[in-house]
Amino acid sequence: MKKESVFIETYGCQMNEYDSDRIINALNAIPTNEPNNADIIIINTCAIREKADHKAVSAIGRYNKLKKDNPNLIIGMSGCVAQLYGKKLLKDMPYLDFVLGPRGIPQIPKIINNIRSEEKNRPIETSMDVEDVFDISPYHQEGKVVGFVSIQQGCNKKCAYCIVPTTRGSEINRPMPEIINESQDLVKKGARELTYIGQTVNSWKHDGLRFFNLLDYLQEIDGLERIRFTTSFPKDITKKMIDSMKNNSKICNQLHLPVQSGSNRILRQMSRTYTIEWYRDRIELLKEAIPDLALSTDIIIGFGNEDENDFQMTMDLINLIEFDTVYSFKYSIRPGTPGEKMKSHVPDNVASERLHILQARQKEITLKKNLECLGKIENVLIEGFSKQNQNDLFGRTSTNKVVNIKNLDESHIGKIINVKIIEAMQNSLIGEKI
Ligand code: SAH
Ligand code: F3S
Repeated sequence: MKKESVFIETYGCQMNEYDSDRIINALNAIPTNEPNNADIIIINTCAIREKADHKAVSAIGRYNKLKKDNPNLIIGMSGCVAQLYGKKLLKDMPYLDFVLGPRGIPQIPKIINNIRSEEKNRPIETSMDVEDVFDISPYHQEGKVVGFVSIQQGCNKKCAYCIVPTTRGSEINRPMPEIINESQDLVKKGARELTYIGQTVNSWKHDGLRFFNLLDYLQEIDGLERIRFTTSFPKDITKKMIDSMKNNSKICNQLHLPVQSGSNRILRQMSRTYTIEWYRDRIELLKEAIPDLALSTDIIIGFGNEDENDFQMTMDLINLIEFDTVYSFKYSIRPGTPGEKMKSHVPDNVASERLHILQARQKEITLKKNLECLGKIENVLIEGFSKQNQNDLFGRTSTNKVVNIKNLDESHIGKIINVKIIEAMQNSLIGEKI
């Protein structure tokens, strides 16, 4: 049978990117960047903020027009919006052919077959109670230098603002042999750097093993040269984990550690379970162990009854720690979360202004951090052709900064080389091979 071609539009986090690659593999389909020629179009959606969830719904409407020219075209919605609104989506969008929650990915071949054979009209798969959540590995293009491995599905924390525990269910940790197998397969296909992903990766535990044990085992994988992981939860940073990071030369000098707010009062309202003192203490321990560790974080502005004083504490924190990167968002009320029932909310214009102040300050800090790289020699893993200029190659430093390198031939792709940083911009660096 001829392979079908699938176009997937992916919104949201790395977990969704990973899931999109799993869908391609599950369907044994040919991925395409051209929706006009696709047999199947899937919008893999994100529900984390209201804006993301609206974007997804309007994307479906756009692709519907293609059905006029291709009546066999199947259009489906997967991901967190699919999980959240389920049946309602089919009711609201008569041209939508199926709805698939994040845990249903292994079922997608069956879903497509059912539609093609007209056995079942407009299937919906949003059950949370499934055993095969990790069954399908992601599609990985031969020779692609970086890849992702999921080690955990769902989340057991109950942050008051967050929809993830609703849409992705409670935490399920993947057995270590499966993680190792998938890693080895990706390395065979050319991956040199793997990022291990989960909502709170460092809370991973399985069969008596903890996250730090997993890190130690991963470094034994032959041919794997770099290890990253995301996202870490502050309360689950242990001293043993820090030791593993320090002693394991494959682990990159980079940690994403979402803090959300600099104010204990707001952290409590968010149910984040740590204090700002705990967070700062962990950062100190990490920096002591790994002095050149690059840090990034997430911040939500305008949650609960955040006042000027709380906001100032968040500003103080970003000035104190000087994160390399900060992902900051205005709080968006999500259906069914504890945050939805909270009485006091920050007016939108106030939140917008605070967000603007924070982002402007962080822009300065990020640039300053990039300028500090000037003249330094960095190890860069070359990933491919530069997005700006097809004659240049690009890669990333261990600290996860993008470096473009001129006059380098493609035989360097997949190799770690020494690069001297000669220019620093807001979002990337320029270097030369030495
Ligand atoms: N465990 C994941 C959480 C994914 S959500 C992680 O820590 O990365 C990613 C980020 O989106 C969160 O850290 C938070 O800063 C932000 N976020 C989550 N819910 C939000 C909401 N309702 N409004 C605004 N931002 C939100
Ligand atoms: Fe969401 Fe908090 Fe989990 S931000 S994904 S509930 S750690």
